[in-house]
Parts: sequence; structure tokens; C-alpha cells
Amino acid sequence: MKIQTLKNIANVYISFLTNKSKIRPKRAGWYITDTCNARCIKCDIWKTEPKNSKDLTLENNQKIIDNLSSFGIDNLDIVGGEPFCFPHIFELIDYACKKDIKVELNTNGLALNKERIDKLLRIGVYRLGFSVDGVNPSTHDKIIGIKGAYVKLTKNIRYYTSKGGVGHMSSLISAINADELIDLYHLAQKIGLDGIIYQPFQYVPAFISDKKKEELSYEKYIKKIDNVLNKLIKLKKNNDFTIYNSVPYIKKVKHFIRNEKMPNFCFAPYCHIIIDNQGNLVPCTAYRKKLGSLVEIPLEKLWNSKEYIKTRKWLKKAGTDAKAKAANKALFLLPLNSLTKK
Ligand SMILES: C[S@@+](CC[C@H](N)C(=O)[O-])C[C@H]1O[C@@H](n2cnc3c(N)ncnc32)[C@H](O)[C@@H]1O
Ligand code: SF4
Repeated sequence: MKIQTLKNIANVYISFLTNKSKIRPKRAGWYITDTCNARCIKCDIWKTEPKNSKDLTLENNQKIIDNLSSFGIDNLDIVGGEPFCFPHIFELIDYACKKDIKVELNTNGLALNKERIDKLLRIGVYRLGFSVDGVNPSTHDKIIGIKGAYVKLTKNIRYYTSKGGVGHMSSLISAINADELIDLYHLAQKIGLDGIIYQPFQYVPAFISDKKKEELSYEKYIKKIDNVLNKLIKLKKNNDFTIYNSVPYIKKVKHFIRNEKMPNFCFAPYCHIIIDNQGNLVPCTAYRKKLGSLVEIPLEKLWNSKEYIKTRKWLKKAGTDAKAKAANKALFLLPLNSLTKK
């Protein structure tokens, strides 16, 4: 293991013990909008419109980019909602690219077309993550809630990769697509993507705000999903096409789908910068406590502010406090994906 990696690990632990982060992240995740053009059954964010349509202006978002850049962020991961529903998304990507920030976006691909893809490539987008949840059009369309979504998305991915665009697939693990998870791995390869990230379906307030989604939950499919996870570990060990989830992560998913006790802590608030659609620093998308506005306050001041240290302490009390426990459960699986190297 490299000395720098060991130093980083030591710093994460020291940060956790002291509640003060010794890490200076170079990557930020940004929930640029809560608006969405899909009607997914895995995520209810689209139901929050229009009350959540309080996205910031381009000018204020540019101020945030200046702020991130001064802190040393050189990699921006833009999600949402659907990032391509944000009206000034191209101007924003352009602005960040001109500051030498590598911009990645996760998308359902519905608002893309040839012209917009050409524009993205011209501006210099670094990477796109495409959410594909089935190899059968009907499976994908069922999860996304839009007829024809699969055809549109895969056509856009093929065009993007044919023009030299770099990207990966992001796929949900759920009961509905359990039979297609390995085929998704092959599909990603076939359509020119460079890897795949699997994301187990989670019932957390960030995604699902009303009734529990029985149709997506794992109970009846545990054995099947276990087999898939074992196959993924094998494929990963054979150094085949890239699976961006780490082996420890895949193993943890086995416990997660059984609803077994998960660790009562999460390192995300010590090593991730996460921003909500109103420009606030938050510990995580699943726990959007507003720690301060990045339009107004330098990230330098917020990262180890009194408020953030208090929040980190509270999150650590997960064993005794039901609210903290729920937040930690939600926090635990989400950020592990962004710890994988891309
Ligand atoms: C919230 S979406 C935002 C970006 C974009 N709209 C998209 O769908 O790619 C980011 C990722 O979260 C995943 N996701 C949505 N709901 C989820 C859930 N309940 N559990 C786990 N992952 C979920 C999506 O599949 C997607 O890859
Ligand atoms: S997962 Fe993405 S596409 Fe689906 S509703 Fe949520 S934000 Fe929209």
C-alpha cells in the first residue's frame, strides 16, 4: 500500500476521533436541482415539484464554483434530480471546466440528444454516469416510469461513446431487475462505457418519501442477489471489465439486503463535500442538514465549523439516538460509491 494511502486512512480515523476533519477533499458532490423529468419508482424526488423548485441562479452557482475552486476542489460530481433539467447546466459546466475542474454528471439520459451531447463534448465534460436499470426495455422503463426511456437512453449512450465520450453505467440492485444485473455488466461493455457501479435499492427519505416500495425490496430475492454479488466479486478478481464498487462494498451489500445490523457510523462527513440545490454544505444527500451557504461563506470556514463538529458528534451517537441511527444507516451505503476510484 502506498504511503499516501496509509496517511489518508490514518487521517480519516484521526478525524473521526476528533470530529474535526484532517482531510482536504478534492472532490465535491452537488445536488444541483430537485427537479426531474422521470417518474421513477425507486426515487420520489420528482414528486417534490414544484415546491422544491428553488434552484439557485447561474450567478450564485458560479460563486459556489469559485468557492470550491479556492478550497482546492478539482473534481465535481453533479447529480440531482436530473442535472439536465437545470436550465443553465451547460453554462455551469463550461464555467467549471474553464477553472480546470473535471466535471462528471449522473443522468437518466432523457433530456439528451445529439446536439446536446456534441455541446457537452465541446465544452469538455469529463465523464457521464448513465443510470440503466435493465437490459430489457420493459424492465428499465418500469423502474424509470417512462415508456420508451430505455430506447432513448441507450441511443444517447451509443452516440456519446461513439464520439469519444467517457462514461460508466450506474445500475440499481433490486427485486425487479435481479435477473438482469450480470447482463447489465455486459451491456455496459458493449455500448462503449468503461465500467459499471451497482447501487443497492435503499429505502431512505432522500429517495423515497411515501409508502415503502415492496416491489423493489429484496426479501424474496436474497439468494438470487447473493449469487449475483458472488459473480461480481469473481468478475472483479479476474480483472475483467471495471466494476467500480470495491469487494468490501459488495460484501457489505450482502448484509444490507438481509437488513442485518450495519455499522453505526459513517466516514462521509469527514471526507466528502456535499452540496444541496440551494447551495448549502450538507453532510450527505440522505441527511440534508444545512451547514451554511457556499454562496456566502468560504468552504474553508464551513468544513470544520462549530456547527459541523456538533453535527459529526451527533451522528456518532447513532447507538443511542434513534434519529442519528436512521441518518447513519442512510449515510452508510450512499457515499461508499464515491469512494471508489474513477
Ligand atoms: C438520484 S439519481 C440523480 C441523477 C439522475 N437523475 C439519475 O437518475 O441518474 C442518482 C442515482 O441514484 C440512484 N437511486 C435513485 N433512487 C435510489 C434508491 N432508492 N436506492 C438506491 N439508489 C437510488 C439512481 O439510480 C441514480 O443512479
Ligand atoms: S433516480 Fe434520477 S431520474 Fe429517477 S426520479 Fe430520482 S432523480 Fe429522477
